[in-house]
Amino acid sequence: MKKIIKNGVIVTAADTYKGDILIENEKIALIGQDLTDPQAEVIDAGGNYVFPGAIDPHTHLEMPFGGTVSKDDFETGTIAAAYGGTTTVIDFCLTNKGEPLQGSIDQWHAKSKDKSVIDYSFHLMIGEITDNVLEELPHVIEDEGITSFKVFMAYKDVFQADDGTLFRTLEEAKKLGALVMVHAENGDVVDHLVKKALKAGNTDPIYHALTRPPEAEGEATGRAAQLTGLADSQLYVVHVSCSEAVEKIAEARKKGYEVWGETCPQYLVLDQSYLEKPNFEGAKYVWSPPLREKWNQEVLWNALKTGQLQTLGSDQCSFDFHGQKDLGKGDFTKIPNGGPIIEDRVSLLFSEGVKKGRITLNQFVEITSTRIAKLFGIYPQKGTISVGADADLVIFDPNIERTISVETSHMAADYNPFEGMEVTGQPVSVLSRGEFVIRDKKFVGELGKGNYLKRARYGELKTSAAQELPVN
Ligand code: URP
Ligand code: ZN
Ligand code: ZN
Ligand code: ZN
Repeated sequence: MKKIIKNGVIVTAADTYKGDILIENEKIALIGQDLTDPQAEVIDAGGNYVFPGAIDPHTHLEMPFGGTVSKDDFETGTIAAAYGGTTTVIDFCLTNKGEPLQGSIDQWHAKSKDKSVIDYSFHLMIGEITDNVLEELPHVIEDEGITSFKVFMAYKDVFQADDGTLFRTLEEAKKLGALVMVHAENGDVVDHLVKKALKAGNTDPIYHALTRPPEAEGEATGRAAQLTGLADSQLYVVHVSCSEAVEKIAEARKKGYEVWGETCPQYLVLDQSYLEKPNFEGAKYVWSPPLREKWNQEVLWNALKTGQLQTLGSDQCSFDFHGQKDLGKGDFTKIPNGGPIIEDRVSLLFSEGVKKGRITLNQFVEITSTRIAKLFGIYPQKGTISVGADADLVIFDPNIERTISVETSHMAADYNPFEGMEVTGQPVSVLSRGEFVIRDKKFVGELGKGNYLKRARYGELKTSAAQELPVN
């Protein structure tokens, strides 16, 4: 059935204006003033913003990690995402050295297909470059529409790839039209510092942060950026946490290198001191890279404001405190890394960013949706409000005040890292391709309704951000 969303304030990365949106056949059919259609259901958005559905470029749903599996899967994870105003997720498909890439991709399809309530896509991890991998990559792009490859520079002896692999991945990405994503920390240095800490009997959660210093992130970020310049390729640095890494990205962009940076809510509002919470509670705040000294937060906010960092991901990778995080009692290296964020990513950026005057409303849309769609080859199908785009829309009340709590959260983990935080602004209703997933703050979606998205090559779309020079 057709729908008209009336009287909302429509916000895109470029504009803010009052208008009505006519939805037909999953798409935005018309935008205008005082629209009427006798066949359309009318939804009143008066007093609210209407945003393009947010896109989460960084999730790990039902992902094996550290001898356990992340708690939120494509069911709970995408339902929680929808509650938070996210209508597309791009999840990381892990691969195993020596095994066909297609096998891993098939596994990821199997765990998402009948569960996802919103549209979704995959990035593909590259752990090594072999003849077989080189043969498979063009098919990964053509047949699967996976146009972003992830290389881990950390997690030695688990996911970590060497510099040769990173460089060759950058070369292939350039040739094939893909964006290379890096987890940038110097894994060898971290490994050494971790061994030293354990030998000295330093086993508490805080040592997770102390053995992964900002210099190790800055160094790896700079190295990846230099290799990108050398390969004349394109790079996206995930979960940037500190000033050292921001500096390296800014430096590369100044040289004209195509280097993009993402940060996450946890680095914007939490800090290293959380790892020192008593009774092992610090384990709830174990991410890699780790939370940093508080002063880094203003550096990250400023980088978002000035465009040195361009996107916000959740890095959703949740584990229960009881039964999963506590695998690391007595040895911080056994704490599974990550946390439940997918639901609160958007409202945290709105509340802490827009409401506190750190970024504009249009920047908020750019950072949570538009830029992500452009970089990952789904613009303008996703990422904006325009005629012909998918009707992925968020009706957002900017004045609702709520306190974040595990009690009211829809994520599966048994704690929320932002417990007790007051935030202003909340999605009221969320539509995915013209159908309500959330209506009046209640889930009304359907498992398996989300479509798998094949994405365009990096730089392929005429409107793609890839063709805009980095702006400083
Ligand atoms: O701590 C984190 N970030 N967990 C998820 C895996 C990763 O490195 O992104
Ligand atoms: Zn093929
Ligand atoms: Zn990572
Ligand atoms: Zn991650």
